[in-house]
Amino acid sequence: MKIVLLLSSLLPVCLSHGYDPFSWLFRRHWQEQHYGSLQADTTGGPCPEECDCPPSYPVAMYCDGRGLTAIPFIPSRIKFLYLQNNAITSVPESAFANATDLVWLLMHYNQLTSEGIDEKVFLRLKGLERLYLHHNNLTSIPSNLPRTLRDLRIDHNAIEKISAADLEGMDNLTILYLHNNAVRDLGSSLTSLKSLALLDISGNKLTKVPDVLPASLHQLYLEYNSIDSLPEGFLGGFSHLQYIRMSHNQLSDKGIPSNTFNVSGLVELDLSYNKLERIPSVSSTLQHLYLQANQIKEFTLGSFCSIVDVVNFSKLQTLRLDGNEISLQDIPVETAVCLRQAFSIQI
Ligand SMILES: *[C@@H]1O[C@H](CO)[C@@H](O)[C@H](O)[C@H]1NC(C)=O
Ligand SMILES: *[C@@H]1O[C@H](CO)[C@@H](O)[C@H](O)[C@H]1NC(C)=O
Ligand SMILES: *[C@@H]1O[C@H](CO)[C@@H](O)[C@H](O)[C@H]1NC(C)=O
Ligand SMILES: *[C@@H]1O[C@H](CO)[C@@H](O)[C@H](O)[C@H]1NC(C)=O
Ligand SMILES: *[C@@H]1O[C@H](CO)[C@@H](O)[C@H](O)[C@H]1NC(C)=O
Repeated sequence: MKIVLLLSSLLPVCLSHGYDPFSWLFRRHWQEQHYGSLQADTTGGPCPEECDCPPSYPVAMYCDGRGLTAIPFIPSRIKFLYLQNNAITSVPESAFANATDLVWLLMHYNQLTSEGIDEKVFLRLKGLERLYLHHNNLTSIPSNLPRTLRDLRIDHNAIEKISAADLEGMDNLTILYLHNNAVRDLGSSLTSLKSLALLDISGNKLTKVPDVLPASLHQLYLEYNSIDSLPEGFLGGFSHLQYIRMSHNQLSDKGIPSNTFNVSGLVELDLSYNKLERIPSVSSTLQHLYLQANQIKEFTLGSFCSIVDVVNFSKLQTLRLDGNEISLQDIPVETAVCLRQAFSIQI
């Protein structure tokens, strides 16, 4: 009796506060409906059956790894498009007819050929920032790429030539991956890339370093080419360059002007697997030096320290000299003073 009274006295209070004991049920129902309506979002066109358009992220479309041989319809709301790991061979003029707002276009690991890419197709993409075309069958950089690009990855193709027009005006391009192609000469194609921080052109057919390299570079990767010499003042124009990798080239002492690598700011220098017979002079600020697998016959402490005292010593931490023609006996005792920060020296 007491309980019934309590309930009846409580109930009107609950109702007056809008409390509905079955509200959880309606809320769930509403959520399902809401979820359903998002899933069926057709703004700018429906999601093609072969792709996923997550309701929680309506500007992305995932079509990767589905055995596609052609580009599906792309609704105009899509900004981030994942088409990697398919067998797409071409990009026809109509491909992005409605999807002009793409910001990311990821098409790596496909079968794209240069002949298969329409010359004007990229002109429509006015805000594209990231374009991944690595691991395809391209023989040239597609024409008319958007100047808005920040990150262009076109490594592991069969590109032989790059013309100045290909990259002209890409003021914001920061990352350029060109490795594992068949480029012999970059000419002046990189001239206008005033924001380029990372250039990877390893695994190509270069016989010399590019004539023009953007002064903005932080990382320069040139390994696995056939470069045998470096121009005078090669590193003079850079103020941000920290990492240089030139392993697996044909560099010899006579191809390297003295003091080429004695520039401050460098953190890592990889000259392994070349034909050096001497240790080049390096800046005292260098931290990691890789010289393994050369023909170095002599340990020249002066390459690291021209003076040694309390304040003048090398900041080198890693030094690899294994696979050369020197042994531990060739290391003078003063080395401990000059290379006082080195924690790994391999002979
Ligand atoms: C694609 O764009 C064309 C031209 O603007 C328009 O007529 C068509 O309706 C669009 N298609 C979709 C599915 O939005
Ligand atoms: C792309 O290159 C691969 C490997 O070289 C080859 O097997 C394939 O047939 C090529 N695809 C096209 C469309 O040319
Ligand atoms: C580079 O980025 C800036 C700032 O986001 C932008 O204003 C400018 O238009 C971009 N330049 C190009 C060529 O897209
Ligand atoms: C590096 O250059 C500076 C002057 O810029 C010079 O004082 C120093 O001796 C050089 N270091 C070596 C190892 O030649
Ligand atoms: C030695 O250290 C002093 C003081 O930091 C500096 O002025 C001088 O340039 C250094 N000498 C060399 C050869 O680095």
